[in-house]
Amino acid sequence: MKLHIDGREIEAKENETILSCAKRQGIRIPTLCYMEKLLPIGSCRLCVVEIEGYEKPVPACETYVSEGIKIWTNTEKLKETRREILQFLLLNHPLDCPICDKGGECVLQDLVYEYGIEKVTLPKFRPKKIEVTWSTPAIKYHPSRCVLCQRCVRVCRELVGRDVLDIVEHGYNARIEPVRPENCISCGECLSVCPVGALTEKISPIKGRLWQIKRVSTVCGYCGVGCTLQLNVLNNTIIKVTTNGIPGPNNGTLCIKGRFGYEFVGSKDRLRKPLIRVQEDFVETSWEEALSYIAKRFSEIKEKHGSDSIGGLCSARCTNEDNYLFQKFMRAVIGTNNVDHCARL
Ligand code: FES
Repeated sequence: MKLHIDGREIEAKENETILSCAKRQGIRIPTLCYMEKLLPIGSCRLCVVEIEGYEKPVPACETYVSEGIKIWTNTEKLKETRREILQFLLLNHPLDCPICDKGGECVLQDLVYEYGIEKVTLPKFRPKKIEVTWSTPAIKYHPSRCVLCQRCVRVCRELVGRDVLDIVEHGYNARIEPVRPENCISCGECLSVCPVGALTEKISPIKGRLWQIKRVSTVCGYCGVGCTLQLNVLNNTIIKVTTNGIPGPNNGTLCIKGRFGYEFVGSKDRLRKPLIRVQEDFVETSWEEALSYIAKRFSEIKEKHGSDSIGGLCSARCTNEDNYLFQKFMRAVIGTNNVDHCARL
């Protein structure tokens, strides 16, 4: 079907929203509550567009295209409407950007800047101070920063399938709470979709600012799914894991291990030298000595009890090549088919 956006004739697909049609054509419409992987709820209204013949602007994220309509995405009236919406959002959102972990990649911060809002003109309302304990100790919730876009609620319900979160109370005191905390699996999806820093990570203390961090794309080493992620590195230390827009089989989603299990990399307790057990103690040794000892003991056991007295367990954290070599070693050198892998446990 054909329609017009900002005076351009455009080919639209059946059953697509104005937002996705515009996006395909490279026309940007600002959004806040919308996420491509979630069902639209049209709550923030920042994506409003005008349609010729319609009395009021409509949200582009949940309005579907129809033949011949004429859409305007950036008129003076729309800009003014968005400024008013932002003013209302700032009523409840403190301008504490200098101390917020989200500074530099906050959707609200960017929109406030883009729409030139220099001060909050509406009278500030101070809701009662509420402490909310999140459903996992890995995350902190800041109710005062929450704009109730419900991305966290929806991702937990629609993508993770745990349905832990919901809005409680009404009006100024409305906030997100873990209403079914026992369902939480600490995957941190809620944290990853929060656009404004209302949810922040509590694992490592120094987060660093966006412009100080180096983001290194890699593949998660915990299992064989091959989720892609970005290690956020500051001063040669991993300080958090993100997935912002990088392609991969996980589509930006991670489990608890991929998102929060990064501290072992720089841990002081990490084994860096081989250990040999001497009676009850483990004693540090060199690789040469450790490998010679292993070879000697394998030969002795094999000679005395036969090849099938030895079995080998490999790991999903190794590369394919490591696992291939391991089974080859067990079959060709040790002489047994007793090989298994932690992914089957
Ligand atoms: Fe469309 Fe929020 S992005 S209403």
